[in-house]
Amino acid sequence: MATTSLPLTDLYLGLMSGTSLDGVDAALVDFAQPRPNLLTTCWLPYPDEIKTALLALHEPGPNELDQSCCLANQLAELYAEATQAALAQAKIKATAVRAIGCHGQTVRHQPARGYTLQINNAARLVELTGITTVADFRSRDIAAGGQGAPLVPAFHAHCFGAPEEHRVIVNIGGISNLTDLPPGGLVRGWDCGPGNLLMDAWTRRSFGCAYDAGGAIAARGRLDATLLSRLLAHPFLSAAPPKSTGREDFSLEWLLALTTHDAAAEDILASLTEFTAQSIAEAISAHCPGTQAVYLCGGGAHNQTLVSRLASLLPAVPIKPTDSLGIAVDWVEAAAFAWLAKRTLEGHSGNLPAVTGARGERVLGAIYPA
Ligand SMILES: Nc1ncnc2c1ncn2[C@@H]1O[C@H](COP(=O)(O)OP(=O)(O)OP(=O)(O)O)[C@@H](O)[C@H]1O
Ligand SMILES: [Mg+2]
Repeated sequence: MATTSLPLTDLYLGLMSGTSLDGVDAALVDFAQPRPNLLTTCWLPYPDEIKTALLALHEPGPNELDQSCCLANQLAELYAEATQAALAQAKIKATAVRAIGCHGQTVRHQPARGYTLQINNAARLVELTGITTVADFRSRDIAAGGQGAPLVPAFHAHCFGAPEEHRVIVNIGGISNLTDLPPGGLVRGWDCGPGNLLMDAWTRRSFGCAYDAGGAIAARGRLDATLLSRLLAHPFLSAAPPKSTGREDFSLEWLLALTTHDAAAEDILASLTEFTAQSIAEAISAHCPGTQAVYLCGGGAHNQTLVSRLASLLPAVPIKPTDSLGIAVDWVEAAAFAWLAKRTLEGHSGNLPAVTGARGERVLGAIYPA
């Protein structure tokens, strides 16, 4: 009988820590088959002191370099912990994993000034895990004239694209971004605006919790039309793609400058939720004609108020979670960075120039061999 030398597994581990600053998502993914197979997933929340330190590092301050390097070391420890937890859960040895794709934690995103910064100590992560690590995925795209973001559209196209349906994938993380997947057409994608980050910041400030679970608080509030129109006037929303954004553009300070002192906290949250819903719906209506279905992923897909507002704003289009396409909403981004690591290790490009605006396709990231 003929024997095969094909590997039975093609394992990569994606580590995503996004702009929401909620923690680290880990996804161990087998790419041996055409469809990615998520073997195990786990989430480690950021300890409060790390979250506070990361938030502070988003603003210019004294001794930033030392703080950034020390935080990067702490993050590497957390990434290693998430890696060990995922491997233990799956009963897989580190040596079976070809590479980790580690996004790092964005503390500055300034493509117009030629840089973006995802802090991490990938060398330390390799020492702690013994696994080859690919890191700093965004810088090469920016060096090639792109936005460095979003990078997930190529993965969305790889695993969610379908000849029978014009799909739009919307990831609602700290920032929201979409991928337009017209059958046989050009894959496009861009950041739509804030996802959860303004809602989270306001919920933390006014209600003392990390986020508005299920959108329950926003559901009690009433829309503040004046505030909503001020929010919608942000120039990022009307800018033409390709475009990307971050905490620099949509900060709590910006929000506070637009609110009045006597406004009820739940009304402001309702208005922020509506703002997120309208910015996403408007991006789809204006730029993705012919959309037949919208698939949501990211933590914002758990916000029922946000999802039902999106459904009202796009009445002709069914809105579903990516679970119905085979990857649960919470793990799409981590799986994407596992896939991006595979692309890099195999010498393939990871960016889509039509999405980021880069001069061409590029192999992304820096490889830290085990
Ligand atoms: N049950 C829930 N109800 C409402 N919102 C939720 C719920 N669970 C998570 N979220 C929201 O999702 C956020 C985390 O989402 P996610 O991890 O996708 O974002 P992220 O880390 O910023 O990722 P990225 O920037 O890569 O998209 C939380 O901060 C919160 O706002
Ligand atoms: Mg997250």
